Amino acid sequence: MIVAGVDTSTQSCKVVIRNAASGALLRFGSARHPDGSEVSPQVWWDAFNLAVTKAGGLRDVAALAVGGQQHGLVALDADGEVVRPALLWNDTRSAGAARELVAEFGGAAAWARAIGSVPVASLTVTKLRWLRNAEPRNAARVAAVALPHDWLTWRIAGYGPRSAGLEPDLDALVTDRSDASGTGYFDSAVGTLGEYRPDLVAIALGRSDVVLPRVLGPTEMAGRTADGMILGPGAGDNAAAALGLGWAAGDVGISIGTSGVVSAVTVERPADASGLVTGFADAMGGHLAMAVTLNASRVLDAARALLGVDHETLSRLALAAPAGADGLTLLPYLEGERTPDRPGATGSLHGIRLGNLAPDRVARAFVEGMLCGLADGLDAVRDQGVPAQRLVLIGGGARSAAVRQIAPSIFGLPVSVPEPGEYVADGAARQAAWILEGSPTPPRWPGPSSTSYDGDPEPTVRQRYAAVRG
Ligand code: XUL
Repeated sequence: MIVAGVDTSTQSCKVVIRNAASGALLRFGSARHPDGSEVSPQVWWDAFNLAVTKAGGLRDVAALAVGGQQHGLVALDADGEVVRPALLWNDTRSAGAARELVAEFGGAAAWARAIGSVPVASLTVTKLRWLRNAEPRNAARVAAVALPHDWLTWRIAGYGPRSAGLEPDLDALVTDRSDASGTGYFDSAVGTLGEYRPDLVAIALGRSDVVLPRVLGPTEMAGRTADGMILGPGAGDNAAAALGLGWAAGDVGISIGTSGVVSAVTVERPADASGLVTGFADAMGGHLAMAVTLNASRVLDAARALLGVDHETLSRLALAAPAGADGLTLLPYLEGERTPDRPGATGSLHGIRLGNLAPDRVARAFVEGMLCGLADGLDAVRDQGVPAQRLVLIGGGARSAAVRQIAPSIFGLPVSVPEPGEYVADGAARQAAWILEGSPTPPRWPGPSSTSYDGDPEPTVRQRYAAVRG
């Protein structure tokens, strides 16, 4: 039997088609999403269809599941139309709304106890409050609130806006624990599935009479398409990647994509009142402790653009410079920052002298600064009592030789780098195969081959970084 896994990510839609029993990759397709932090969900549907076509279609696929970027607000009216373009996880306009919500609900510790996370601009709950404040007419039209992966699953199941001639059945919306836990109005620590907190929806939107997608367990079927293809519940991208890579306790994933994510599966749901670590759910019935930065692979892109070089040259330059970049330190908050919560922050390059303002030093400072931001996240996750026995580096940024070689000295631990792959889509495919098999644990698929990197810790790099970060 054959399964498909989809990753509807910030930048593109990717579809992997795999053999359900062996996990062997049979076909692959992808299509780009437009840039920006506000997009019409229709582009996700168009990209999905293009990616499926490039992957040779779904005719022979028995089950499919969707992993996707988390938190994005897809607000639907009673006719299944989106009331406005979706606000994505990396849109920081709801930072003020986040502050209001934290204050109104009794402070950060009260939120951490209630849902495992303290709202920052990324979380859906803050986007709902922003909508109510900034666009009250749109807020009044909201009949259902979905996330990107929920909405795409709904479309694949055959539902959609009335204007497209589709059935806008809002009660057919489904989600899973991992993505629901990123909304800010779902408590994943209650019972086996967790439960929504309508009181928090009401605080944000002023009412709670909206349809929220039904939350499914890790192997619960979401339905079937008209052609009989089984649909899985899907997952948020970080939970899907953990499933795709088969992470276990002691593994800490560090993903360098559009977002930088430090994550580890845990049995207990974390509740970090400092807000640095979010206590989400994973896609296997447990939890996921995560620290997420807004500044990861695009910090490397910025360095490339500044120096006018390609990825390989940037990497070569960075490795040619001494550790510590001869005194240059980059604070990489180029898009504001989420961990720590500084949505209005900007980046800065410190320690410039006539003698060190050279391309190789600058390249090194950008790589080190980006990694130091992630090292802060790693510290925060470990401060929650999460053991870090193995660091696994994934995402587009992990393709950089400089990142791979410099990472151990910044993190103070060896890192293991699996061969490049579509681990979110793979996790979704593995979930689809798990449902087909009906087994108590996910199917055993061979893991990717990995390369290990080690290096002497460079504490002074982090010390200088800490001094400029404050
Ligand atoms: C997680 C987060 C990002 C998005 C986009 O909290 O905001 O990782 O899921 O990938």
